[in-house]
Amino acid sequence: MPKEMVGEFSEDEKDGLYRAIYTRRDIRSQFIDEPVPEAVLSRVLHAAHYAPSVGFMQPWNFILVKDRHKRALVHDAFKRANAEAKLLFSEDKRAQYSGFKLEGIMEAPLNICITCDKERFGPVVIGRTAQPIMDIFSSVCAVQNLWLAARAEGLGVGWVSIVKTEEIREVLSLPGKILPIAYLCVGYVSHFPEKPELESAGWLPRLPLEELVYSESWGEQCKTSWPELHTAIASEKKFVKK
Ligand SMILES: Cc1cc2nc3c(=O)[nH]c(=O)nc-3n(C[C@H](O)[C@H](O)[C@H](O)COP(=O)(O)O)c2cc1C
Repeated sequence: MPKEMVGEFSEDEKDGLYRAIYTRRDIRSQFIDEPVPEAVLSRVLHAAHYAPSVGFMQPWNFILVKDRHKRALVHDAFKRANAEAKLLFSEDKRAQYSGFKLEGIMEAPLNICITCDKERFGPVVIGRTAQPIMDIFSSVCAVQNLWLAARAEGLGVGWVSIVKTEEIREVLSLPGKILPIAYLCVGYVSHFPEKPELESAGWLPRLPLEELVYSESWGEQCKTSWPELHTAIASEKKFVKK
């Protein structure tokens, strides 16, 4: 028997965490017209702010966008970028791509832009010396915290990346040193789809985890070098109670 683990969550607590992880969805089509109460929004923002960050630099800001005119400008920018994006796909995929709804900018009552200030506490930050991109990764950690906390609150979040950053920069008056990292649509939903919409539509499948986990070096599948783990991963799909 393993020793009692310090800090281990109770079964119910684990269920809650894994439920948030496995039932989180990217939401574009299911927003309902219902404002997000300040207390809920505050909890979700606090969760984002407790993300890990390189050297504790906390490079993020959260720009809350409710204004319909500003959102319409971002939506126009999406439409331009999406028209360009469509042409990048092969002809056989283009029709299906055009059928996807890839943003909920106007339907969601709230948009949030999470940014990265590359100069915060800089120029030298612990952990960012060899890999300067770590500040951006830190802001992305905040995005994920927000996304999961939102799910626990029953809020949907959709990430819109089909917009040129220069256009977001202009609409939100971002100073030059501030990078827009994620433009998110946030709101209550009619339902959370069970699977990613791109999976349900047959665009791409979820990859089998056991083929993605390597042991010791690139390409070394656990199947041969760590068969017990391979079996455990292949048989355990989700850790959440039904
Ligand atoms: C960095 C990033 C950018 C994304 N950009 C878009 C986007 O522009 N439009 C969109 O519809 N979904 C976008 N998504 C959502 C993904 O398509 C979605 O996460 C994926 O299909 C898996 O679905 P799920 O999030 O519901 O599990 C983005 C997700 C990430 C992580």
